[in-house]
Amino acid sequence: MLLGVNIDHCATLRQARYRHLAPNDFPDIEPDPIELAQLCEKAGADGITAHLREDARHMQAYDIYSLRESISTRLNLEIACTPRMTQFALEVKPDSVCLVPESREEITTEGGLDASGNLSRVMETTSAMNVAGIQTSLFIDPDPHQIETAAKIGAPCIELHTGAFANAYHKPDIMRVELKKLQEGARLGKELGLIVNAGHGINYVNINQIHTIPHLHELNIGHSIMSRAIFSGIEEAVKTMSNLLKQTKVSQ
Ligand code: PXP
Repeated sequence: MLLGVNIDHCATLRQARYRHLAPNDFPDIEPDPIELAQLCEKAGADGITAHLREDARHMQAYDIYSLRESISTRLNLEIACTPRMTQFALEVKPDSVCLVPESREEITTEGGLDASGNLSRVMETTSAMNVAGIQTSLFIDPDPHQIETAAKIGAPCIELHTGAFANAYHKPDIMRVELKKLQEGARLGKELGLIVNAGHGINYVNINQIHTIPHLHELNIGHSIMSRAIFSGIEEAVKTMSNLLKQTKVSQ
């Protein structure tokens, strides 16, 4: 499994102090997401993920342009499926876009994209990305209907939302049910010819269960890596997670 490191929380910390400043207003605005992305790559990240939200509450458009210029692995840009964000992605040309739902009240992305309920919009963006050579991934719940829709739309990739599983960690019965949905969802995705990624709420403990989900290509992980980095530094945090991803599957 490959590791995509989501660096949004670095920008959250920067914006907490410097949101009124433009990048050139102050020479040493910290922490710098671009420098962090480069350190993640040095420590073994296979890609960098960043979400430009409609309200730009953490990452700014200039961050995404700088990431495009300065990272040497893959840039995965998360966006809402809107004409404005689609246009932005076509300008930046990330290696991939991940279409996520957005609501202004949520602190982080809370549910999967309803691809079936927003069929024409998702299809339009996916086709535009396909034409531009940008891989589209749909961030969806492990729901067979959504997975089948992704395949019908012609999206090459899905990212299964692991949030319900992660949130149930201390409720083993629910957790088992959610894990099963992810395992079956990944199998279905693979059968339909999709690249299957996963993300949200994955940490250094539940990675053990994530290993029981078949066919996963890449995990996108942000919060747990950034949290650990506060104590151990980003290189250790990324290296440790990257090693955990490479370990063989635990038996079920
Ligand atoms: N994947 C997607 C599509 C996301 O929106 C996020 C952030 O919410 C993540 C992965 C990473 O989640 P976390 O920060 O919980 O690791």
